[in-house]
Amino acid sequence: MLKANQDYLKLPGSYLFSTVAKKQREYQEANPDRKVIRLSIGDVTQPIAPAIIKALHEAVDEMGTEEGFHGYAPDLGYEFLRNAVAENDYKARGCEVSPDEVFISDGAKGDCGNIQEIFDKDCRIAVCDPVYPVYVDTNVMAGRTGVYDEKSGVWSDVIYMPCTAENGFTPELPGQKPDIIYLCFPNNPTGASITKESLQKWVDYANENGAVIIYDAAYEAYISEAGLPHSIYECEGARNCAIEIHSFSKNAGFTGLRLGYTVIPRELKAGDTALHALWARRHGTKYNGAPYIVQKAGLAVYSDEGKAQLKEQIAYYMKNASDIREGLKAMGYEVYGGVNAPYIWLKTPGNLSSWDFFDRLLENAGVVGTPGSGFGPSGEHYFRLTAFGSRENTAEALKRIKEM
Ligand SMILES: Cc1ncc(COP(=O)(O)O)c(C=O)c1O
Repeated sequence: MLKANQDYLKLPGSYLFSTVAKKQREYQEANPDRKVIRLSIGDVTQPIAPAIIKALHEAVDEMGTEEGFHGYAPDLGYEFLRNAVAENDYKARGCEVSPDEVFISDGAKGDCGNIQEIFDKDCRIAVCDPVYPVYVDTNVMAGRTGVYDEKSGVWSDVIYMPCTAENGFTPELPGQKPDIIYLCFPNNPTGASITKESLQKWVDYANENGAVIIYDAAYEAYISEAGLPHSIYECEGARNCAIEIHSFSKNAGFTGLRLGYTVIPRELKAGDTALHALWARRHGTKYNGAPYIVQKAGLAVYSDEGKAQLKEQIAYYMKNASDIREGLKAMGYEVYGGVNAPYIWLKTPGNLSSWDFFDRLLENAGVVGTPGSGFGPSGEHYFRLTAFGSRENTAEALKRIKEM
């Protein structure tokens, strides 16, 4: 009998962003003259940097010539880009990652979601709470998460690691033993960063317990404080227990161009099985490569010109982050994040629920943010604002919040 994948049917539905959009739409219809400001977006807004646009144009022109035409890309990605990644993101930081351990992809979301395929269905996952929903939902689709409890919003077979103000939004080592640990620093949604010392504890824990860490470094470029790890491979022993995932979306504005990569060290094993070989097999079977022109654009990210332009772009967003952070603090809000990440995580005033604060902000200020409870139970009574808006909108939003 034809039957849909029953694991997909367990997904509770994308309540968070659809409800945010619905409420925003209803407010706009009721208040057609009031401009709604969206500080809820996780998408960048600045145009692609000129050095990258130039590389794109050149690659497009090449594709129109006999000698410059490129068809299917190599499975792991073009060598020019893998070399640039290994050199700039790793060697320059004292990390040992070779170009053939870098798998180029069309972005971090796919890699974050697909990586679980190379692990057994019985593996137990541990996630931070609150969390970027992709890690959990893709394990739900794979039938690895057990039963969902609507009331508490938790899955029976997932180990949740609360990230709260008390622990500085970095999780404690779990009481139960996980096989796969998802970590993301700088963090979405809390904006928290992790010290090298804390990350080293996780690496040691994973090595001692035979677990693997999937380290999502999508926001690495936003680290502004010295001494914080940009890669998990800065920690000793990480090559034996960690997979690292990167995106070009937030450091270089590729949300629409699509480019990312995953690193799997050759010595990383699950039992006797080398995970590098499994991911290579998966990549070769299910994926035909990021476009040549986009990989060329990715190469420009590592050019001197590209680096200088992107530094400015990130500084632009981080000025918004600091304006939001300092502005809200001056108004008496309890605010976190916004120093090494483009996300500001605030405690709702008067212990309002995340959704009540969402309604209050929309109704009184015409500003849309994201309720923290949508990222997990420990996000309740918190609220996420992003620094990805324009300077003008960010300033206007702050002015309105102050007046409300
Ligand atoms: C933590 C985290 N990882 C991954 C992604 C996805 O990145 P990409 O655009 O490369 O798919 C996002 C996007 O918002 C994110 O917040």
